[in-house]
Amino acid sequence: AEDGYSMWLRYNLIEDEVLLKEYRETFENIVLTRNSETLQAVENELTKGFTGLLGLSPEVKSDIDSNGTLVLGTPANSEIIASLKIQNKLDRLGEEGFLIEQKNIQGYHTIVVAANTDLGVLYGAFHLLRMIQTHQPLANLSVVSRPHMPLRLANHWDNVDRSVERGYAGLSLWEWSTLPEYKHPRYADYARMTASLGINGVAINNVNAVAWFITDHFLKKIAVLADIFRPYGIKVYLSINYSSPVSLGGLDGADPLDSMVINWWKERVQHIYASIPNFGGFLVKADSEGQPGPKTYGRNHAQGANMLAEALEPFGGIVIWRAFVYGERQADRVREAYDEFVPLDGKFKDNVVLQIKNGPLDFMPREPFSPLFGALPKTNTLIEFQVTQEYLGNGNHLVYKGPMFKEILDADTYAKGNGSTVGKVLSGEVFDYKLSGMAAVVNPGTDRNWTGHPFVQSSWYAFGRLAWDYSLPAGELAEEWIRMTFSNDEMVISTIKKIMMTSGEAAVNFREPLGLTHIGTGSHYGPAPWSNRSNRFHQADKYGIGFDRTINGSNAVEQYYPPLNDIFNDIDRIPEKYLLWFHHVSWNHQMKSGHTLWEELVYKYYEGVEQVRQMQAEWDSLEGMIDRQRFQHVKALLEIQECDAVRWRNSCVLYFQTLSELPIPEGLEQPK
Ligand code: GCU
Repeated sequence: AEDGYSMWLRYNLIEDEVLLKEYRETFENIVLTRNSETLQAVENELTKGFTGLLGLSPEVKSDIDSNGTLVLGTPANSEIIASLKIQNKLDRLGEEGFLIEQKNIQGYHTIVVAANTDLGVLYGAFHLLRMIQTHQPLANLSVVSRPHMPLRLANHWDNVDRSVERGYAGLSLWEWSTLPEYKHPRYADYARMTASLGINGVAINNVNAVAWFITDHFLKKIAVLADIFRPYGIKVYLSINYSSPVSLGGLDGADPLDSMVINWWKERVQHIYASIPNFGGFLVKADSEGQPGPKTYGRNHAQGANMLAEALEPFGGIVIWRAFVYGERQADRVREAYDEFVPLDGKFKDNVVLQIKNGPLDFMPREPFSPLFGALPKTNTLIEFQVTQEYLGNGNHLVYKGPMFKEILDADTYAKGNGSTVGKVLSGEVFDYKLSGMAAVVNPGTDRNWTGHPFVQSSWYAFGRLAWDYSLPAGELAEEWIRMTFSNDEMVISTIKKIMMTSGEAAVNFREPLGLTHIGTGSHYGPAPWSNRSNRFHQADKYGIGFDRTINGSNAVEQYYPPLNDIFNDIDRIPEKYLLWFHHVSWNHQMKSGHTLWEELVYKYYEGVEQVRQMQAEWDSLEGMIDRQRFQHVKALLEIQECDAVRWRNSCVLYFQTLSELPIPEGLEQPK
């Protein structure tokens, strides 16, 4: 049965006879020297992949003696690779890049996967398998690829009791009670999945962190995970609790300038590296939503982070410091991270990187990009995306986030004039960062398909691929994922792609169109436009709706570079999708469509519901064309989504109508 367990590494036999024959002839033999655990992983994956996809297991040899040979390696571990005239290309691949080429070697037809490191070879092998999974032609093959960003990270919000904050897919993957003795096979499959996207680090525990993870007792368990991940190039990071010196060390405080505290962390870090030699570093949520931090001791974020960075530095470890901070009583929460961190630019050590959520608020269905991107020329920067669907229907709704990630990555910050996109900031093309990249909060758990809703996988996939290459189009990534996960049938691809590419706009339209935000329930699932919190964000009244962040309001617009600050400030020039984020707008304001704001808002809510219904119709047309199990599962989930969409629409339209006192535009059914 197709339960989704293999995710995008689904290696089913290729049904197209012609293609199958061609691939079989190309991959009769494999030549590689398995003299490292990473190359062993390469061989395992290729064997698994070819056995499944081609129905044959190629012979692994030490030399080329026939056509149809795949040669993999580095100049260091393969004499064949060393003898090829590809050094100038290898020089441009860095430590993680790879090339794949068709070559004639000693008179034989071969395909070569070459890199400077074993990890590069592994990434190349996954790329080649992806090409086969997606039925790409191999004639005159020549691929050169290297990641745009050094840090490509997954964050798990997993707790010690195996609950997962905002997870929605079962229990945490990490079985603390059976580790270190029992190595659940899922750990290795997780590593394969993760490495196949090029993700090279995972923070395994919740940012709302308990101190226990850095005790010797837990380190023994975590070391087993780190061992399993290491061949796949994945480093383990841990979220820490800033008060650990108090709760674990029995000290009176956790002041980062106190020598007792400094020494306590140094000693702990030594212990960690003794158990996990390739440990990545700490992820820290400090002075945020009740978590402890340096402010208790009158120190700022830079002082707090640098103390940990000094302890980690001798071992090559880093500190990932989160920028998600806000006070409960500020006039405008979206200003706060910028106001807090811009004055600290240049004060962080080189092995500290600031992890900033994509938007200035909190993973809302749609936000403009955080103005911190572009505003920190001297502070290493990571973006934090959310793959899990905290504000987007949890495990119940179909929402492909690829286009949302792209909207942020392609946004121009104008930090150094035109073309200083967020993607370029993160890749270190705008400022000279030592460390930078992308992180995402992922949600895999013990559900058979890992992510609960099968389509959450697609957002995870798109995230990982974009962290490797932020220029990839979201539609292309959707198509890859569909081919690898469901089918290479053109009808199936175009139908599912249509659904995926509509899903993000639908999610925004029936919840929070035109720049509205944070009007859900406390659980972040359903609508609650009437709640006190929602009112603080939408500010709807008899006159109109929206939050005034112009120069007459909170002036959050000033945090963006020109010309964006002026554009966002100008009610006539601002993109309408951000209108109510920045402006308090009269119900009668005339929109570009010619409708009034009130009419447009109502139309958007109705459109959102119609889009979900359209997605349902498209999905129904797939019956018999994909496996029954996932067909039925998604069909049922779409029914829930339609019902929720109607509830969001009706709740919001009816509530806002009590303030606008305007009629529902003609032709729309009256909400109940
Ligand atoms: C959101 C989310 C919390 C999470 C927090 C964070 O507020 O609801 O569950 O802890 O973000 O990112 O730290």
